Amino acid sequence: MMRIGMLTSGGDCQALNAAMRGVVKCIANSGEEVEFYGFLNGYKGLIYSDFRMLTSRDFSGILTKGGTILGSSRTPFKTIKDPDENGLDKVEAMKQNYYKLKLDCLVILGGNGSQKTANLLSEEGLNIVSLPKTIDNDLWGTDMTFGFQSAVDIATGVIDNIHTTADSHGRVFIIEVMGHKVGWLTLNAGLAGGADVVLIPEIPYDIDKVCNAIRARDERGSRFTIIAVAEGAISKKDAKLSKKEYKEKVANRKYPSVSYEIAEAIQKKTGHEVRVTVPGHMQRGGAPDPYDRVFASRLGAEAGWLVLKKQYGYMVAYKNREIVKVPLKDIAGKLKSVAPDAGIIKEAKALGVCFGD
Ligand code: F6P
Repeated sequence: MMRIGMLTSGGDCQALNAAMRGVVKCIANSGEEVEFYGFLNGYKGLIYSDFRMLTSRDFSGILTKGGTILGSSRTPFKTIKDPDENGLDKVEAMKQNYYKLKLDCLVILGGNGSQKTANLLSEEGLNIVSLPKTIDNDLWGTDMTFGFQSAVDIATGVIDNIHTTADSHGRVFIIEVMGHKVGWLTLNAGLAGGADVVLIPEIPYDIDKVCNAIRARDERGSRFTIIAVAEGAISKKDAKLSKKEYKEKVANRKYPSVSYEIAEAIQKKTGHEVRVTVPGHMQRGGAPDPYDRVFASRLGAEAGWLVLKKQYGYMVAYKNREIVKVPLKDIAGKLKSVAPDAGIIKEAKALGVCFGD
């Protein structure tokens, strides 16, 4: 009898359920006798032994369901080794709960921080298989994470909708896209939605270049300008600040995010009426798109095979159009950002997209 634990950690995304269903179906269909233990609300469930025993039936009918049937939470890696408010050693508690349930393996679905904790647990001797989830697509070792494509669809839909109203009113519109410290989501949604300006953290912007792009459109007779701004976008000036100075600046910022700062500067410099739209967590919500349903199901099945073959200490990943396994120790703590000289950036520039550089 195999005993398999499973948890979803960090910010949720579309296709978490599809991925878990893939793991469970693959293992259950192999004929292996198996018990599944679902830890609730991410690593918290493992730390505080909060779990539900699950059967294959729990995973039926969830392919298209957004969110996660196990719940999720953020348990930051940087404080994982600190005792909790009652003095509990969290890492030791996770290990003890794993051993108490006599688990053969723990399947972890998570993004960057969660993969670091997965690697720590693996180094501590637990059998771990992980899957790459996040709308940010910032996980090193995989070309793609599940959730990303669905979020691109939603952000693109927002840009499409904004286009018509921007045209009617002849306005400059900023759409702020999620993505944390990287620009994958903004870049892809920006290109798919035909944004005129795309600002991403990897390419610090000069506000005057942005304004020039707007003026050039004015001169060509365009009534409006669409700007896709990553939530982590940064100006050339701010990029020169130390980490501490930038943090202080953000903490004292008059506006809730960089987009409003950009809007104010554009309004002042060009005289244009500017509006900001922030779709926020909508980008993580709702049903996974067909791409993510297939992708997460495939990753889930591959993770299931790793479990059956007792190949532990890996994250299933997608490299060069193939599903592969990458050692957790190789990915932990690394960020996959957009290279400013990547082909997609050059191609976008050839299409006339302004990156503000
Ligand atoms: O990592 C996914 C993500 O949606 C980021 O794009 C965003 O910066 C962050 O999570 C938001 O976090 P929270 O849900 O904790 O507000």
